[in-house]
Amino acid sequence: MRLKTRFVCRACGYDAAKWFGRCPGCGEWNTMMEQERPKVSTESLALPQSVAALELPPEVRFSSGLAELDRVLGGGIVAGSLLLLGGEPGIGKSTLMLQVANAVAQSQSEPVLYVSGEESVTQVLLRAQRLQAVSPRLLALAETNILHITEQIKACQPRLVVMDSIQTMFDPSFDSPPGGITQIRQTALQLQRLAKEQGLAIVLVGHITKSGDIAGPKVIEHQTDVVLYFTGESFYTHRVLRSTKNRFGASNEVGVFEMTAQGLKEVSNPSGMFLTARPQGVAGTVAVAILGGSRVLLAEVQALTMFSHLAAPRRLATGLDQRRLVVMAAVLEKRAGIRLSDQDIYLKVAGGMRLDEPAADLGMAVAVASSVRGTPVDCRLAVAGEVGLAGELRPVGRAKERTREAARQGFTRMILPKGFDCRTNGLEVITAKTVKEAIDIALSQD
Ligand code: TYD
Ligand code: MG
Repeated sequence: MRLKTRFVCRACGYDAAKWFGRCPGCGEWNTMMEQERPKVSTESLALPQSVAALELPPEVRFSSGLAELDRVLGGGIVAGSLLLLGGEPGIGKSTLMLQVANAVAQSQSEPVLYVSGEESVTQVLLRAQRLQAVSPRLLALAETNILHITEQIKACQPRLVVMDSIQTMFDPSFDSPPGGITQIRQTALQLQRLAKEQGLAIVLVGHITKSGDIAGPKVIEHQTDVVLYFTGESFYTHRVLRSTKNRFGASNEVGVFEMTAQGLKEVSNPSGMFLTARPQGVAGTVAVAILGGSRVLLAEVQALTMFSHLAAPRRLATGLDQRRLVVMAAVLEKRAGIRLSDQDIYLKVAGGMRLDEPAADLGMAVAVASSVRGTPVDCRLAVAGEVGLAGELRPVGRAKERTREAARQGFTRMILPKGFDCRTNGLEVITAKTVKEAIDIALSQD
């Protein structure tokens, strides 16, 4: 016999056939809630179809009004899609979405609905006025009940809906608080269906908390077509928008914005921004050419090494993976003969940028070596390369574009892994087989 009910934990979403006082999934007490199993109707069951006989529905895209965002999305917002925009509180998600909502309302004939579960309509209006985002077709709704929101969406037939934020929305038929996994999943599921049925695009704004709460936008990533993360350091004005998933384009695409008093402005030359105020003639810094999605960015890696009084010297990295630094320190000691076991190492990417690409390895290595030796690296020299455990330099993708962008930013020389043959672009390319060789080149003052 099929069970009619199930028990779902409202903290972690653990699903069980019987009730538990303590959730086996997350260990929380009294979080298991009884829920009815959805009835499966046999009428709407899908049948297998020949792929060859299928026809693709035309993909309808429209511009978000921000070229940087359109690029990250792979050419605009796709009608009928569900998007997730995640980011820490205060980073600028509401600002970005209100600007987009207004631009779409201005350029399209249908309205745009901005649903705020966190602010009143007056607060939304205040922000809209500050951003000069007051198109007559931009509709604001302060509501958290998903059933009511669904009705309003059906009534006003918008082109785009922004749900700010998904953590505040709830479905009254589920007896669990807003922000919990069950509610987040259920409301996202309903909105996903609605987007497909009505052919409208819906953006779910989701907060990520630093404490690493499990109940967050991560739990609905698989339900959405596009996942965007908005990041930045609160003390810097620039913000980086990255797509980690995109059913309609390339993922890992990067868009750069600057937060101003009039909202977010697109940054057309991000390298110029990350490279401002570079120290001249100081040991421990080097420029790296890394990929930010389909384009190349130049960023500055800075290292500071000091004699350590600790048994286990400190390794601290900001904007770069801490574990990569630990590995790099070992590789440098063993393969390049640079003694680091008695040195504290502090590493950071200037300007608050995050470098996740392996090609940043060589930047890390050269910056650390430069600091230890006290020899500055020429500020017109850029590097890119992955460093292997044997100390070998591994090739990087799209080397040609890297040299082109470096030349455009005023660099005159670039160190790349062996195998790249290119003397063009008004830039001298020097190739190296090992990290030791690359360091020797970078630190030789000629
Ligand atoms: P917000 O969009 O509310 O962040 P989120 O929705 O991600 O929580 O942005 C909050 C910060 O942005 C706030 O500290 C004020 C600042 N801000 C500006 O600097 N300029 C502006 O035009 C706006 C609207 C906000
Ligand atoms: Mg907000």
